[in-house]
Amino acid sequence: MKPTTPNRRPYRLIFIAGLILIISALVVARVARAEKTATWQMKMNEISQFLGELAPFLYDEAAYNDPANKAKIETLTGKLSELAHDIDKKKMGKKGVQTPDFDPALEVLAAEFDDSVTRAHESFKSGYKDYSRALLRTSVSYCISCHTRVPTAEAKPMSGFNAGLAKAGAAERIRFFAATRQFDLVTSEFEKTFTDKQNVRVVDLESAARVALSVALRVHKNIDEGLKIAARVAEHPSAPQSLKEEAKIWTKELGLWKSEASTAPTTAPATLAAARELVIRGQILQQSPSDARGDVAYLKASSLLHEMLKKKSTPAETADALYYIGVCYEALRDLGFWTLHESYYEACIRAKPASPRAEVCYSRLNDSVMLGYTGTRGTDIPMDVQRRLNTLQKMAKP
Ligand code: HEC
Repeated sequence: MKPTTPNRRPYRLIFIAGLILIISALVVARVARAEKTATWQMKMNEISQFLGELAPFLYDEAAYNDPANKAKIETLTGKLSELAHDIDKKKMGKKGVQTPDFDPALEVLAAEFDDSVTRAHESFKSGYKDYSRALLRTSVSYCISCHTRVPTAEAKPMSGFNAGLAKAGAAERIRFFAATRQFDLVTSEFEKTFTDKQNVRVVDLESAARVALSVALRVHKNIDEGLKIAARVAEHPSAPQSLKEEAKIWTKELGLWKSEASTAPTTAPATLAAARELVIRGQILQQSPSDARGDVAYLKASSLLHEMLKKKSTPAETADALYYIGVCYEALRDLGFWTLHESYYEACIRAKPASPRAEVCYSRLNDSVMLGYTGTRGTDIPMDVQRRLNTLQKMAKP
C-alpha cells in the first residue's frame, strides 16, 4: 500500500471542493443574469402587447371617449400600470425587475414611465379622459427614450399588432414603431411620409423626420441613412422653409462626421471629452430651444455617452456622462423627450452626491422645473415638487 501523507489529502479535497464551489457560483451567477434579462424581456413583450391593444383607442379620440369602450380601456391601462410597477425599482425595491444594463437612467425612466402610466389609468377611472390620453402618449415617449439610446436588436414583429394605427397620423405611427422597437418600420414609414406629397400634414413632417433621424444615427448607427433623410426633407415640396434649412445643416454635419476617422473613443475620459465638444457644437448651431439645427451633434453625443454607460465607470465619470446626456435631451426636448433631461440631472446628482458636478446638475434641474411651473401669474410650485427639489439640493451640496 502506498503511504499517503496524512495531511496532504484533506488539502486536495478542500482544493477540489473549493473549485467546485467557485464553478457552481459562476454558473449560478450566469444563469441569474440570463434570467434577469429574460424577465425584463418578458415584461417588455407583455407591455408591448397591451400597448398594441390600446392603440385603436389611443390614436382615435372618439373611440377613447366612447362609453362602450370604457371597461376595455380601464382593463388595458390597469394591466399596463401593473407591468410598469414590475420594472420600477423605486416602487418595488428589491422586488423590481433588474434592468438589463448599467445605464442608471433606466431606473429613473422606469419610475417615470410607471408614474405616467399609473396616473393615466387613475385619471381614466376618475373620468378625466383627455388628460389620461395625453399621459398615455407621454408614456410612449418613455418607451422611445429607453429603446433608441443605443443599437439593439429589432423586436420580432407580431401579427396584427399594428392594426390599431388606422387613425394615427404619420408622426404618431413613426413614434409608435420606435416605441415598440419596429425600427425598420420607422425607416419605411418615413419614406412613405416623404414620398406622399398630398396627404401629409405639415405638422407631422418635422416630428417624423427628427424621430427617423434619431433612429438612423443612434439605433442603426448609419450616417448614410441620416444623409438620405436630410436630402428627402430638403427636397419635399410641403416642408416648411425652416425645416429645409435644418435639413441642410444636418447634411453638412453628417458630411463632416463621415469624413472623420471612424475611431469612436474607447475610454470614459475620451468619450466625455468628445461629448463635451459635440455639445458645444450643438449649442453654437441651435438658435432657439425648439429648432432642430443641433440635432446631429446632440444625437451623436448622447449616443456615445449611452454606449459608455452600458459599462461600469467611476461615479464621477457616470455623473459627468449623465449631465451631458441631460444637456442633449434638454436641447432635443421638442423631439418628444419633454422633461426627460430632468431625469438625467437627477440621476447625475444621485451618481456622485456632494460634488461640484452634482451642484451643476441640481442648478439645471432647478431652472428647468421652475420654468415648467412658471406661467402668466408667476411661478407656482406644488409642495411635493418643492420638497423633492430641497432633498436633491441637500444631496448635491459638497
Ligand atoms: C425604462 C426603460 C424602458 C421603458 C420605459 C420601456 N422599455 Fe422596452 N426595453 C428596454 C430595454 C433596456 C430593452 C432591452 C433591449 C434594449 O436595450 O433596447 C427593452 C426591450 C423591449 C422589447 C424587446 C423584448 C425582447 O423580446 O427582446 C420590446 C418589444 C419592448 N421593450 C417594448 C416596450 C414598449 C412598447 C414600451 C412602452 C409602452 C417599453 N418597452 C418601455 C427598456 C425600456
